[in-house]
Amino acid sequence: MTEERPTPTAIERQEDVTPAVLAVMERTTDPRLREIMISLVHHLHAFVRDVRLTEAEFRDATAIINEMGALASDTHNETVLMAGSLGVSSLVCLLNNGDQGQTETSQSLLGPFWRLNSPRIVNGGSIVRSDTPGEPLFVSARVQDRVGRPIAGAEVDVWHASPVGLYEHQDPDQAEMNLRGKLTTDDDGRFWFRTVKMTGYPIPTGGVVGRLLRAQNRHPFRPAHLHALIFKEGYKTLISQVYDPHDPHIGTDVQFGVTRALVGDFVRHDEPHPDAADVTPPWYSFDYTYVMEPGAAVLPRPPIE
Ligand SMILES: [Fe+2]
Repeated sequence: MTEERPTPTAIERQEDVTPAVLAVMERTTDPRLREIMISLVHHLHAFVRDVRLTEAEFRDATAIINEMGALASDTHNETVLMAGSLGVSSLVCLLNNGDQGQTETSQSLLGPFWRLNSPRIVNGGSIVRSDTPGEPLFVSARVQDRVGRPIAGAEVDVWHASPVGLYEHQDPDQAEMNLRGKLTTDDDGRFWFRTVKMTGYPIPTGGVVGRLLRAQNRHPFRPAHLHALIFKEGYKTLISQVYDPHDPHIGTDVQFGVTRALVGDFVRHDEPHPDAADVTPPWYSFDYTYVMEPGAAVLPRPPIE
């Protein structure tokens, strides 16, 4: 006579795992965390079934996640790089802006290189703080609300890579805070300054993301862009990147950040500059209108010191 064994678990076959896990997720107290965990388990389990993940691949996957964490430092964030390379950062941005994804938006990715406390400059000033060979670029921009009214007194941080594709903190040849500045919009919501034309640059490829790109024959470049972070009480802080349409990688940004609304108007001029006598052509102008949405004026955590 065989003794009937007790059943310590409801799991007998692979089909039983998902309902058992979901039953546990259902007990999550916080409603939003419950919603996220239930959906995550649904999709994660479906993914594992869909690709019939092997044991070796599962071990590789956990090793990759650990490696991404180990690569993190004050100046590098492999996880953010991976999220961008998979289009997740762009998706989250577009879902949460422009009327919750209904309309175009000036919002874009913060990127890993914003710094707090950029030096203040007056409108018309220059953010070139050390000898930076490159073509002169005159930026002229306007900040407005969704119905086109100017937003005066907004604080605008701008930053960009040099003409050789390096941010100042990556480049011993550039002065501290070179190509970074903080401006305030005037009564017409305008701000303007002088700089040198930036170029596109490769994202770091020494880690997991680099291996993925090579496995997919993808180039590592982001098209040339101007970063801005615009802060004004009563408006959702605008984090933006505006891209140069003439960049060879404008259609294949490795981070999927380029949207139609973020393509700027970079114009080459071969005539003498009307005001700046020291400028020899060619020089470039850039015009853009940033649109802020109502919301909370909150600063993000700076990704680097
Ligand atoms: Fe950037």
